[in-house]
Parts: sequence; C-alpha cells; structure tokens
Amino acid sequence: MTISAMRDLSMTPATENGLRRKPILRKIGVFTSGGDAPGMNAAIRAVTRAAIANKLKVTGIRRGYQGMIEGDFIPLRSSDVSGIIQLGGTILRTARSKEFRTPEGREKAWQQLQNAGIDAVVVIGGDGSFTGALTMSQEYNISFVGIPGTIDNDIYGTDYTIGYETALNSVVCAVDKIRDTAVSHGRIFMVEVMGREAGLLALNSGIACGAEVILIPESKEQHDALKRFLDKGYKRKERSGIVIVAEGDEPGGALKLAENVRCEHPELDVRVSILGHIQRGGSPTANDRINATRMGVAAVDALLDDQKSIMIGIDNGRIVQVPFNKAVKLNHSFDRELLEIQKMLNI
Ligand code: F6P
Repeated sequence: MTISAMRDLSMTPATENGLRRKPILRKIGVFTSGGDAPGMNAAIRAVTRAAIANKLKVTGIRRGYQGMIEGDFIPLRSSDVSGIIQLGGTILRTARSKEFRTPEGREKAWQQLQNAGIDAVVVIGGDGSFTGALTMSQEYNISFVGIPGTIDNDIYGTDYTIGYETALNSVVCAVDKIRDTAVSHGRIFMVEVMGREAGLLALNSGIACGAEVILIPESKEQHDALKRFLDKGYKRKERSGIVIVAEGDEPGGALKLAENVRCEHPELDVRVSILGHIQRGGSPTANDRINATRMGVAAVDALLDDQKSIMIGIDNGRIVQVPFNKAVKLNHSFDRELLEIQKMLNI
C-alpha cells in the first residue's frame, strides 16, 4: 500500500503555535449503518467519550441514514455509553436506507443535521455507508469520518474491520461442533459462511478449522480441489469432511453445491449448514473492542484536525487515514499465501 494513499497520523497533525488547530466544532453526530458488527458499541463509546473529553457535544443518530433523514437523534453523555463495550450489535441500531440514495433523501438528512446543530459526523459501517457519506459531503458542507465496521473485512486500506474477529471465532466455534457430527456419521458438510463478495471470513475460518476444502470468490481453482477431495480424499479421510463455502463463491451457495455433489456422488452423505446471522452477533473479542476503541478516538482526532471524507484504518498495527474515494473504490488485498498453505496442508 503506497504511503500517498494513506496518511500516517504520527506525521502531520495540523497545529497553530503548537496548539492543535480546531475547526469550529461544537457538536458531532455518530451513527452505525449497514450490517451490524460486534464491537460497534465499543466504537460508539470511544467516539462519545473522546468527543466529550475535547469539550464537544455528541448526538447519537439512530437507525443509520434512515434515522438521519427522520431526525431520530438522542443526546449522548458519557453515562449513556457506560456498560456497552461488551455488547454485540449496536445501541444506536442500524438500517440500510434506500431513501438516502436519493438527492431528496440526502437533502432531508442535511436539514435534520442543520436543525440539530451537528457540525460533523462519524459513520461506523462498511463501504456502502462510506459511499453515502462521500456523496453527501460532495453535496453539502459537512465533514464525515468513517470507522470500518463490518464482519466481511472487505474494505481497501485497512487490515481490519470491527467485528471480523468475533465473526471468525463464531464460525470456528460452529464448525468445530459440525466436525464432531460429521466424523461421527461419516458425512460431508457444506458450511456456508458470510462475507458478501469477499472470501476472507471463509478462508481464515477454513484454515482455523482445518477444513478439507475452502471455496471462495477470489479463487475458482478451489473447485478442482473439491473434485479431488470427493474423488479420492474423502475415502482417505475416514469418510468425513468439511467444505467451507463463502456465500459469494457461486450463485446458490452451499445448497446448490450440495445438490450438484449429490448428483455426481450419490454414494456420499452430504449435508448443508448455512451459519447465517449467528456470525453477526455475540460479545466482541478483546481485539475487536481494543481496535474499535482506538479507531473511535482516532476518528474524533481526525475531525478536530479538520479532516473530512476519510476512513480510519489499521495498517500493520498503525492507525492510518484512507480517503473515502479510495476505500470505496479499490479492492481489499487478498492473502494468496493462506490459500497455498491450505492446499499444501490438506493432503
Ligand atoms: O455485510 C455484512 C453481511 O453480514 C454480509 O456478510 C451478508 O452478505 C449481509 O450482511 C447480510 O445482510 P442482511 O443482514 O441484510 O441479510
């Protein structure tokens, strides 16, 4: 990743006479948008308390962009974000707002922010939410800073998105249980994992579970590995196996795949588990809490530093700033090395 694409915070805080130059910020808004992710509450807590520590007022915008359009606002004091760091989901609730995609919807949202005296906003969500923020900040004079919150970990410019690690552990926990019954009955399980168009959750959970085959959108050759496993490997593996299927791999997902396999291999006992929304819930891991907290503070710092239309990210452990127009356009890098490892270890 090129340095020009990111801004390493340790380098250039804007100062005047040694004091941090503060834009005219009195009140900021914070909201969660798109799919919820464990750790979003830790980020809401950090944004709220860092803002208060910098003498700013904080407004919680409920139900994402739809709540912004409808003026569903609540004042956030330090006590309001007490006792939430360990909670999954988001206390501010979230939504996917079709209306916000219209100029009329954004104009309503702008009016609501103006009426509430909100000077700048922190958006916690995925690339869809950042696209919305970028569009609105191009239409109206409002600063948005983004914090990547999605279990998919599919955003350019950051190694890490809030909720990914907790979701990963949820998948591993579920697959370990499925493994027990697969071995006991000599069955093959197609386990469908979330991730939208990205295969990171599937690949890493597959490695962590010792899955026999991992099918992901980023690498079609994995289907050959599946064929090899079904033809030979299955017999060697004492007649059981786990096939992790990223939901973005092939249309129809694990159900369609199992149907095809049953046609070609009527002798095999093939079952399907679609893990679904258990991947989205649960108490966040320590890392999800710590990184969400670091990014929450960095987001307020960035607003105080008059930054706008940027996403806070983590790159090799460092907090970085990535322009929205890169975060939403460029693809997240994909770790081929893990794929090679998986192939080598599944002999
Ligand atoms: O983006 C998070 C995510 O959980 C994806 O992995 C999944 O494809 C999608 O959201 C599910 O969306 P919904 O909760 O609207 O069904």
